[in-house]
Amino acid sequence: MPYLLVLYFSRNGSVASLAQEIANGAEQVKGIDVKIRTVPTVATGFDAEISDIPETGPLYCTVDEFANACGLAMGSPGRFGNMAAPLKYFLEQTTPAWVSGQLVGKPATVFTSTTTPHGGQESTLLSMMNPLLHHGMLITGVPFTEAALHQQVNGGTPYGVSHIAGEHHQNIHPEIAKLARLQGMRLAQYSLRLLNV
Ligand SMILES: Cc1cc2nc3c(=O)[nH]c(=O)nc-3n(C[C@H](O)[C@H](O)[C@H](O)COP(=O)(O)O)c2cc1C
Repeated sequence: MPYLLVLYFSRNGSVASLAQEIANGAEQVKGIDVKIRTVPTVATGFDAEISDIPETGPLYCTVDEFANACGLAMGSPGRFGNMAAPLKYFLEQTTPAWVSGQLVGKPATVFTSTTTPHGGQESTLLSMMNPLLHHGMLITGVPFTEAALHQQVNGGTPYGVSHIAGEHHQNIHPEIAKLARLQGMRLAQYSLRLLNV
């Protein structure tokens, strides 16, 4: 069974919640599995990885799982307008998949959460698109034909769904959760269509 990969990093749970909603949306599409995976954090010092694997929550992604997905949703908190280092660290291990072109022509979409509305959501989303374009992926977002996108003051962008978490990591607004499910569903549909090209 072909599968979609929902890959994310999250420290305080906001991006993890978006990832779950995207997966929920994708799971509504028949004929495709969904894998949710995360990446380990990296130490603040040299390149050493923190090795303790959490007892609960999603598994860490392997490079093979990344390379063999038929579509990808990738999420990160905004950090200074950029994706978080652990996700970037993982992506820098995917060079073999880039060399062999395993992701060329597969659809991808991105999502994020930041503390503040103008804290770099769109630049973070764009930063995640860069490596995916190098992999040859086809980027898809959230079109304005989704009515919920017009009504949002709690996040949501055409570049990918987003959440404004505030200082207290507030829960995702129901309309943002809906947009995330639509984004996941759309990605699953595109992935299936492209499988047959
Ligand atoms: C190193 C660092 C840099 C950050 N930079 C920004 C920023 O530029 N703008 C912003 O609004 N929030 C920033 N944040 C806050 C996170 O984006 C925000 O808490 C996000 O919702 C965390 O997602 P999570 O709950 O999935 O971990 C930063 C956090 C960290 C740790």
